[in-house]
Amino acid sequence: MNIIGFIGSPHKAGSTAWAVNKILEGAHEQGAATQVFSAATLALQPCRGCLGCVKGDGCVINDDMQQIYAALKTADALVLGAPIYMGQMSGQAKVFTDRLFAQIKPRFSPTFKEENAGKKLIIAWTQGNPDGEKFKAYLDYTAQMFGILEFDVRDVVVVAGTRTEAASEQAGLVDTLKSVGAKLVV
Ligand SMILES: Cc1cc2nc3c(=O)[nH]c(=O)nc-3n(C[C@H](O)[C@H](O)[C@H](O)COP(=O)(O)O)c2cc1C
Repeated sequence: MNIIGFIGSPHKAGSTAWAVNKILEGAHEQGAATQVFSAATLALQPCRGCLGCVKGDGCVINDDMQQIYAALKTADALVLGAPIYMGQMSGQAKVFTDRLFAQIKPRFSPTFKEENAGKKLIIAWTQGNPDGEKFKAYLDYTAQMFGILEFDVRDVVVVAGTRTEAASEQAGLVDTLKSVGAKLVV
């Protein structure tokens, strides 16, 4: 199984990166091949809405997203990590999500491709607020939205309270995250 992770945080080694990497580690220990991309080190431009991807084959923007498109082609699963910014996914994660349109081509796209549907997805959220239910309505909505985009949403993880305790300092989280990753494979 091929799994790719995308860290939608501007911090290379922040809580979101840590959470995504632990999930990937859990999957890797079960034999999955994993690869991780981070918004902190890639230059990703927002979707221009030019619909070049509908007219041609693929996104016309020649930036670092091309590496991710190439990896996604053979990926069975995606682990999307995003910090909550102002009650929603960070801008970095949203740019990534919008740019998926060029490749994923959901059923409502004029160029829907059956083979792109059904990739497994784990969404890993991190948030400063200690109440993991605080943004539940938005997180549920987002999971449903990825379902509409034809992802097979397997798990939604919320790492709360990073304002006072970074994800890496939270007791028991390593095991929880690794088992989420392992479950993707076994
Ligand atoms: C611009 C900005 C907006 C934020 N908005 C929220 C928010 O609405 N709710 C919340 O709980 N945390 C919020 N946070 C805190 C982040 O979600 C939290 O620190 C997150 O774990 C950071 O992840 P990182 O270490 O991977 O960057 C915000 C942080 C920033 C920088």
